Amino acid sequence: MLSPIAFYSPIAIATEDEEKARKAKMSIIIERYKDRVSVLHKHKTWNNTHVYKYEGFWYHRGFWYQSNASFSIEAVMASQDGFQAQPTDVFLASHPKSGTTWLKALAFAIANRTKFNFGPNHPLRTICPHDCVPFIESEAFLNNPSYANGLMATHIPYTSLPKSIISCGCRIVYICRDPKDVLISSWHFMNKLIGNESTPIKLEDAFEYFSKGIITNGSFWDNVVGYRKASLERRGRPDTVLFLVYEEMKKDPKNEVKKLAKFIGHPFTKEEEAKRVVEEIIELCSFEKLSNASTNANDEREDTLSNEIFFRKGIVGDSVNHLTPEMIQILDRITRQKYEGLDIPI
Ligand code: A3P
Repeated sequence: MLSPIAFYSPIAIATEDEEKARKAKMSIIIERYKDRVSVLHKHKTWNNTHVYKYEGFWYHRGFWYQSNASFSIEAVMASQDGFQAQPTDVFLASHPKSGTTWLKALAFAIANRTKFNFGPNHPLRTICPHDCVPFIESEAFLNNPSYANGLMATHIPYTSLPKSIISCGCRIVYICRDPKDVLISSWHFMNKLIGNESTPIKLEDAFEYFSKGIITNGSFWDNVVGYRKASLERRGRPDTVLFLVYEEMKKDPKNEVKKLAKFIGHPFTKEEEAKRVVEEIIELCSFEKLSNASTNANDEREDTLSNEIFFRKGIVGDSVNHLTPEMIQILDRITRQKYEGLDIPI
């Protein structure tokens, strides 16, 4: 069995001064990569903003929303240059809107289950999962040791990951989801992000840019394929990439949560199973419980994303309520072409 990872503590929510210091640091990083970014191919994307192509994937640049530079191209470059993984680190990887928040909560609850009981004081009852597990490209690359504490997340494509993650043989858990639902989830998310003051993004535009992969973080399908190929290629080295599917987690959460626990080195004992610990974790991380807790934990500071934005419906198949039959046909065709031979159950 793989060795267990260290205990992770939730991230202390930054004070106003820390937030200012992070922005100042980010400004320096943006300046540092200015020349590299300026020569990259540029394209219009939804909301009339521009994305830049880097290593085959598109990203926004600089402080691209609410003075926030998370997931910007400079943050990816800085992670590649400055982030040093440890062999025991575990990374939760995904394309945005594939179930990252849910996966963060589950992994955090599993790994910390002997530290916190599931009562009212459990961190996930009062803190958003994003404050429990940091993204390397928005937090941990700043090399703040309290952020890089063994369990981290990323939206960076497999082929662009900081090299030490691969060379250290770190465990990676990838979550993928039906692209049609990812598109609808992203469209709603982006409209919330840009707020009421801007013209809402039309579904037709969201569909066009999503289908072409010209959105921040790049093509959904290429992100999935990169991790899927890695999970197939690295099969010989005991389970360095675990490939999870949102729909399967919805259908059989017990089985998937047990798989996840085993993979990250915290398998459930027979006694725990008899005491229904798996069920307790599933309940703690359910859409209803997490969204209530995260909403209550909202932080009123300016420029901070409100936690509600990470929770919408949390169901399978909502895209049929939005997409036309033609759109569905096109998306399904792209999926078949991109996933050919990769045995991805979507
Ligand atoms: P919908 O917009 O379809 O509701 P991410 O976390 O990668 O940003 O993905 C967000 C999607 O996951 C949203 O999908 C959100 O509602 C859903 N989600 C969040 N928490 C969840 C949970 N505990 N269980 C299932 N889905 C969840």
